[in-house]
Amino acid sequence: LQLYHFTRESYDFLFHHDTIKTVIKMKTQEDMQLFWAQAKALIESETDFTANLANISALIKEFYGDACSWAGFYLLKENELVLGPFQGKVACTRIPIGKGVCGTAVKTRQTQIVKNVHEFPGHIACDGGSNSEIVVNITKNNQCYGVIDLDSYQFETFGTQDALILETLAEIISELF
Ligand code: SME
Repeated sequence: LQLYHFTRESYDFLFHHDTIKTVIKMKTQEDMQLFWAQAKALIESETDFTANLANISALIKEFYGDACSWAGFYLLKENELVLGPFQGKVACTRIPIGKGVCGTAVKTRQTQIVKNVHEFPGHIACDGGSNSEIVVNITKNNQCYGVIDLDSYQFETFGTQDALILETLAEIISELF
């Protein structure tokens, strides 16, 4: 496994070019390095797939703190997204491809940054309190294995920095499939 970290330059660039008031802006370079070191340590010290996804969802939730109400995985099984390990309230168990924010991410193969979920056509409200969301694909060799989904009770929580961090995490996780 490669150790992923941000250079001062890439971090500064993202800091200045993203208008979203993301929690990531409060994080220091040291916070980020600790996050990557923890993610790497968790995955390297255990081979069990479920245990790793469970701990990664806990790591994400802890890292985001109050900014994140739900963090977890939906895994692609027989052309449908099925709930995987997560942290947060009870969530819907199955999402068809193309439906909701998660299904749209898989169908379009693009990260979905949703500033206001109430304006997203077909948004699936597992928790009525959720106001913004981000979903990134987990892909390997052009094949999608599922998504990482984060919800927030605040509007406009997630931006491009979060997308970059979660996409990098998804790349690390894709090695587990
Ligand atoms: N809001 C998601 C459903 C999953 S929950 O947020 C945990 C969606 O629209 O796909």
